[in-house]
Amino acid sequence: MMKQNLRQIFFLSLMIITVLTGCQQRQIADRQNFDKDWKFMLGDDSLAFQAGYDDGSWRKLNVPHDWSIEGEFSADAPSTTEGGALPTGIGWYRKSFRLEKPTSDKHFYIDFDGVFCNSEVWINGHFLGKRPYGYISFRYDLTPYLAYGESENILAVRVDNSAQPASRWYTGSGIYRHVWLVEKNPVHLVHWGTFVTTPEVSEKLAKVKLDIQLENTDTLQQDVLVKSSVLDSQGTVLAKAESTLTATNGISSLTQNFELNNPALWSPENPNLYLVKTEVFKEGKLVDEYSTPLGLRWFEFTPDKGFSLNGKPYKLHGVNQHHDLGALGAAVNTRAMERQLEILKEMGVNGIRMAHNPPAPELLHLCDKMGFLVINEAFDEWKKTKAKKGYHLYWDEWHIRDLEDMILRDRNHPSIFVWSIGNEIPEQFDTTGIRITRELADIVKSLDTTRPITAALTETDPEKNNLYKSGVLDLLSFNYKHEEYLKFPDRYPGECMLASENMSALSTRGHYDFPSDSVRIWPPAYNAPFDGNPDLTASSFDNCIAYWGATHEDTWAVVKNNDFIPGMFIWSGFDYIGEPLPYPYPARSSYLGIIDLCGFPKDVYYMYQSEWTDKTVLHLFPHWNWTEGQTVDLWAYYNNADEVELFVNGVSQGRKSKEKDQFHVMWRVPFHAGSIRAVSYKNGEQVAEQEIHTAGQAAKIELIADRNNIKADGSDLSFITVKVTDKDGNRVPDAANLINFNVDGEGFVAGVDNGYQASTEPFKANYREVFNGMCLLIVQSTEKAGSIKVTASSEGLKAETLELTSK
Ligand code: GAL
Repeated sequence: MMKQNLRQIFFLSLMIITVLTGCQQRQIADRQNFDKDWKFMLGDDSLAFQAGYDDGSWRKLNVPHDWSIEGEFSADAPSTTEGGALPTGIGWYRKSFRLEKPTSDKHFYIDFDGVFCNSEVWINGHFLGKRPYGYISFRYDLTPYLAYGESENILAVRVDNSAQPASRWYTGSGIYRHVWLVEKNPVHLVHWGTFVTTPEVSEKLAKVKLDIQLENTDTLQQDVLVKSSVLDSQGTVLAKAESTLTATNGISSLTQNFELNNPALWSPENPNLYLVKTEVFKEGKLVDEYSTPLGLRWFEFTPDKGFSLNGKPYKLHGVNQHHDLGALGAAVNTRAMERQLEILKEMGVNGIRMAHNPPAPELLHLCDKMGFLVINEAFDEWKKTKAKKGYHLYWDEWHIRDLEDMILRDRNHPSIFVWSIGNEIPEQFDTTGIRITRELADIVKSLDTTRPITAALTETDPEKNNLYKSGVLDLLSFNYKHEEYLKFPDRYPGECMLASENMSALSTRGHYDFPSDSVRIWPPAYNAPFDGNPDLTASSFDNCIAYWGATHEDTWAVVKNNDFIPGMFIWSGFDYIGEPLPYPYPARSSYLGIIDLCGFPKDVYYMYQSEWTDKTVLHLFPHWNWTEGQTVDLWAYYNNADEVELFVNGVSQGRKSKEKDQFHVMWRVPFHAGSIRAVSYKNGEQVAEQEIHTAGQAAKIELIADRNNIKADGSDLSFITVKVTDKDGNRVPDAANLINFNVDGEGFVAGVDNGYQASTEPFKANYREVFNGMCLLIVQSTEKAGSIKVTASSEGLKAETLELTSK
C-alpha cells in the first residue's frame, strides 16, 4: 500500500445544499420532510412493529426528538456521568401516513439522518433493517410494502440505547435527526450518487468534474438525457454539460466536465458557493433533479510549512465539538447549530473537528455556508473496547458499511478537508492497528482521493504507534503533549502533522481561584485523589488542567510560534453534556469548553478572540465583588494595543504589556469596593476601555434575546440571556436566584440552563436558578405567526417582560 505523498496538493471541490438555512436539500418536491406527527412510547413492546398495533395511548410528537434530555439526572443512571447521568433505555416511534396511488411507476424511500441507536425499522409489519451506529444516515426502500389510497401505512421504529455505558459523552436517545420520504421515478439519480471534484483549481481557472450514478429499476433499457449546469450564487449559469445514455437495468455511471474562469474561491473568510444542477430527462420529460453546491479551493499540508489554503499560509484555529446542543440535547435544530457556529466565528475559530462521529447533515451545510474547515471523523472506537458497550460490539458487522456511508454522504462538502478514521484508538498499541488502518484507508480512498486521511493519535513514539506504522496515514494528528511538538520533525521526517486535540483545560464560567498564576492539575494523575472545590467548580483563570492537558496560553504559544504546525483544535469549543472530569456526580457536563453549555463565553474566549481576530479586544476580569482587603488578581486580554492601564477606584495601578508567549497582563491588588477600569493604548492613544463596578444587592432581572424576530416555522429559536443585576444594572456575580418563566402566545419553552456543570435542575422546565448571575431561556416558535410574551419573575426581584415576534 503506497502512502500518498502529502506534498501533493489536495484539490477539493464540494457541493452542498441549496437552501442552507433549512433542511431541504432538493429543489424538486420528491423529498418530503417526514418529521411531523409521530407517536412515541418510552419502553419496549415486542408487538409494536405490527401494523394493527394500538398506539392510541402513545405520546404524539414531532421529531427530531431526544428522550434522554427530557429525563432527570441520577447518580444511578446506567449511562453514568460520562453519558450525562440522564436516562437511556428503549423507545418506540410509530407514524401513520397515506399515499395517493401514483399515476406512474414510483419508488418510495425513507431516509433517516440519524437514530440513536440500534434502530430497527418496519413498514406495515415488514422488517426493513437495523442500524446500530447512531450517528450514521441511512435509507430503506418502502416500495414493495406500501398501500395506497385510503389505507394507512405504518412506519415503526424501535430504538435501543439500553446497553450502557456506551460512550464517554452524552449521546441522546431517539430519532434525534430529521426523517425524509423520498419519491423517485424508475430512472433516477442514485442516493448520494453525485460526486463533484476539481481536478484543477486556481484563481484563474477551475476544472470541475461531476461523476454521476444513475439507476434504472426498469427491466427495459431507457434512453436518457442528463443535463448539468454550474450556477453562481446569483443563479447565473456559468457552464453547462449534456450527456445522453442508454440506461440498462441497474446502475450506470457518467462523467461531466466544466470549466470556470476566474472562480470565486471558497475559504472560511469568504465561503463562496456555487451550485451544480443536474436534470435527468426521459422522452423529453424531467424525471429527476439534484442540486449540489460546489466550493472551489485547494490546500496543502507540508512537513515544514504547515498548512496553506488557496496558496496562502493558513493557521488552523480549530475547536473540537460534540453534537449536543446543551439544554436541547441531541435533537437537531438548525438554528441552535447556527448559533453555536456564530459564537465560534466571533471568537475567530476557522476549523471544527467533529468529535468523534459524523455529524448531522445540517451542521455540515452550515459549515460550508458560514466557512469552517471540518475534520470529519468516523469512529471513537474500533474493535477494541473503550466504552464497555461501545461501537466495538458492532465493529465486525458494520464498520465497512458505516465508513462507506459517511464518505458517500459527506464527500461533496467544501468544508470537509480531512477524513479522520478514528480517535485515540487502542489498536495504536498492537499490530492489529496496522491491518485495520490499511483496511479503512483503502475504503476511504476507494470513494474519495481528494482529502488526506488521518487518525488522532496519542502514542508519539513512531516505533510504538501501529497506526502510523501502517504507512497509510496522510496526516499524523496528535492529541495533547504540545511539549513534544518540536521533536516531530526529527521523529517523523517528511511527515505532515496536525494538533487534533489540545488543552483539556477546565473552567466554570464566572468562577475564579487565586492565586491565578498557579496551575491546578485536577486530577494530578490517573485515579489520583485531589481536593478540588467543594462546589464542583473549576477556575476560569486558565489555571486548571487535566493531567494530560495544558493551559491555553502554553499550547497556543507553541502552535503560534512554529510554522510547521498547521494549527490546533482546542478540546473543546463548547462545554458538552457528559464527561464531567474531574468531578463525580452531581457533576454531569464537561468543564473543558471555552464556552459554557448555555453558549456564554468563559473568559479565555477573549484570549482567543484577541489572538485570532482583528476585532479590538479588551477583556478585564474577574468581577469586583470580593471580601474587603482580599488580595485579588486582575487579568486583561487585549489586542491592537501596546499596553493596558488598570485603575482601582480611580487610582492607576500602572501600565502593563504582554510578555513574550504570554497572552494576558495581570495585576495583584487588594480589594476595596468601588470600581475597576482597564484602558488600552496604542502609541499612547487610548484604544479601548472597560469598567466594572462592585455590584450591590440583587434587584432586577434583565432579559436579552439574541433575536427578537423569529420565524413561525415551529422550530426557530430565540436564545434569551437572563441576568440578575443590582438596582443600577450591574450583574451580581454570585447571584443564584431562582427565576420563573412564563411564555405566552405563539412560542414555548424549549429549554433552560445556567451553564453550571453540577446543576441537577432539569433542562426542560419553566424555571432555572441563575448561576453566577446568569441563565438561559430558549423559546421556540409555533407554526402560527404572532407575538410571544416572555415574563421572568423571582422572589424579591423586579419582574421583567420581553416581547418577541414570530412571522
Ligand atoms: C481526549 C479524548 C476526548 C476527551 C478528552 C477529554 O483524550 O479524545 O474525547 O475525552 O480527552 O480531556
